[in-house]
Amino acid sequence: SIPQKVEALVRKMTLAEKIGQLNQYNGDWAATGPVTTDVGNKLDAIKRGEVGSILNIVGVQHTRVFQEAAMQSRLKIPLLFGQDVIHGYSVTFPIPLAEAASWDLAVIERSARIAGTEAAAGGVHWTFAPMVDIARDPRWGRVMEGAGEDPYLGSLIATARVKGFQGKGLGNLDAVMACAKHFTAYGAAIGGRDYNSVDMSLRTLWEVYLPPFKAAVDAGVGTFMNSFNDLNGTPASASHYLQRDILKDKWGFKGFVVSDWGSIGEMINHGYVKDNYDAAEAAINAGNDMDMESRSYINNLAKLVAAKKVSVKTIDEAVSRILTKKYELGLFDDPYRFSNAEREKSMLNTGEHIAAARDAARKSIVLMKNDNQLLPLSKNTGSIALIGPMVKLKKENKGFWSLDVGDESQVVSLYEGMQQQASKTKLLYAKGCDVTDTSRAAFKEAYLTAMQADVVVMAMGERFDMTGEAKSRANIHLPGVQEELIKAIVATGKPVVVLLYAGRPMVFDWTADHAPAILYTWWLGNQAGNAIADVLYGNYNPSAKLPITFPRTEGQIPIYYNHYNTGRPAKTDSDVNYTSAYIDLLNSPKFAFGHGLSYTTFKYDNLKLSKKNMLKDGAITVSFDLQNTGKYPGEEVVQLYLRDIVSQPLRPVKELKDFKKLLLQPGGKKTITFTINKDKLAFYNDQLQWITQPGEFRVMIGSASDDIRLQDSFILAN
Ligand code: IFM
Repeated sequence: SIPQKVEALVRKMTLAEKIGQLNQYNGDWAATGPVTTDVGNKLDAIKRGEVGSILNIVGVQHTRVFQEAAMQSRLKIPLLFGQDVIHGYSVTFPIPLAEAASWDLAVIERSARIAGTEAAAGGVHWTFAPMVDIARDPRWGRVMEGAGEDPYLGSLIATARVKGFQGKGLGNLDAVMACAKHFTAYGAAIGGRDYNSVDMSLRTLWEVYLPPFKAAVDAGVGTFMNSFNDLNGTPASASHYLQRDILKDKWGFKGFVVSDWGSIGEMINHGYVKDNYDAAEAAINAGNDMDMESRSYINNLAKLVAAKKVSVKTIDEAVSRILTKKYELGLFDDPYRFSNAEREKSMLNTGEHIAAARDAARKSIVLMKNDNQLLPLSKNTGSIALIGPMVKLKKENKGFWSLDVGDESQVVSLYEGMQQQASKTKLLYAKGCDVTDTSRAAFKEAYLTAMQADVVVMAMGERFDMTGEAKSRANIHLPGVQEELIKAIVATGKPVVVLLYAGRPMVFDWTADHAPAILYTWWLGNQAGNAIADVLYGNYNPSAKLPITFPRTEGQIPIYYNHYNTGRPAKTDSDVNYTSAYIDLLNSPKFAFGHGLSYTTFKYDNLKLSKKNMLKDGAITVSFDLQNTGKYPGEEVVQLYLRDIVSQPLRPVKELKDFKKLLLQPGGKKTITFTINKDKLAFYNDQLQWITQPGEFRVMIGSASDDIRLQDSFILAN
């Protein structure tokens, strides 16, 4: 069995060889940190058994060279190749936040499945994904990489992504080992500034930030990555509470924990330890098994063992966890099993993968606004002016955290996508302005172009590299002079559709109030142009819903739908009479969590609760009718929210507890049911016990968190 094999191997290993397995180096190109140059020839270090894993090398030929070096080490322990395969490998899918907007778990799982299949065919064993950090702060650049603000939705998406990457399980040739990151609370970095400290109650930690990680463990995720931040004064890499008490003991996680890039050494800057020696001691004893790029382990663990500050048992435990994964991946049977050039060639960019990317992309586009049903555009539209800095972008559509695998020609720009579908339409083009420049020199040309068209489609937004790691923004407004350009074009009186490309919620107040139609297109990946054209022409009826709240302006941040009510809640959005409000801004967000329109309309009706009293271990069924009352077939995401009316401690004004996405033909009607049981009503008290409290619960069924169509209540008995 694998445990016996691991034990036998560990017995043969010298201390130095064990420490080598805990050491991970960057490959030969810079990703999110400096290129490793200080270890001499890396291949020699591998031959000496000083390296357990390499990140940032891809391709079967390239990885083979490194694996061959590992096969020259004394015990021939294979290397693990890790890579940030975040939203696709060669075929790129929408950025994770965009895909979360699809609320379509099957689509999300399929994208990860394809990414896993392609990455495994490209020699990668291990992806540093999914990122399952809850984020309530759109200033944080890494908001683009997660599933938004909600722990329930985030947990389901975490499960889907882990299942997708790992497929039928480690050892299959189309599976990559997944990594739930960043453990934890990284998304709550103060001020939305990357790498910043986090200070939060343990109740919020357990209730909001931990659930997606627990879901990943339950889905069988192979590894965890800890985070750069400190949580309540302890850097995550040194947190015994997180890594041992919660993850390994309480949750029974059997995989291994890798640090983030250099995070063990960064504890010196945090002021938590004085040097790398102390950093290594703190991290390994706290349960951080592998050191990514800080050299703290390789340079200090032997001395720490000699000084009896770290036990051999602790080292053995970490090594065993890592070796177990190498065995599970089948690398001891054949270290080159992921290095098959023919498979690499045949598995990347297949027609099936490209079609899936297009499907995922169009399902991620959110129809924010559609006055007078401007959209979809008629296929007989005489001329469309495509205006804006994003119209002709190619490679950028892949978004942040995409790899240089595949070539630019595979990426479809908006212009190309429109050309494909605008058979009866003349396309005009003007750039109008750059993303961040302040020059208005090209406004006139854009204006004149708009004047010649029947409809204008403006492709605006933030650059793809304005979100991602270390890409926090204090100002999340539509950058540069773009909103002025929109004003100028709307002033032509032509019907204007605005597309917003972004990796985060942006602020675009004027546009939101004055442009008749807005599609939030995020960064959609290789098939962006085709997907947007599909939606503009109504070949696909948008169905996405926001997975995160859009503030009116930065001053409202953090703003999220599942907040408490306060002792002085404002009665209306503008009630500032000694209420919890701003005197200079409305309370409500610009676009709420769960918002997203369709070309059709849906009627919610006939809410029924199976009973008005629920026993503690019983269940209630909630049912209602949904009808497509418009003229297009369409999908709706129906959302179930609950509120515990009286509770100690407090409960949020609303919490998402279930949802369903379903397709209805025009006139079509379906009865939908949700089951509410104890799990949906329980929460953590101050002692962190998972409890329910008797009393009244409000049931809310909505099309968005601020668009509740039906409600009723029931009593939970003692
Ligand atoms: O996986 C990433 C992590 O999310 C941020 N720092 C670098 C790692 C490896 O690239």
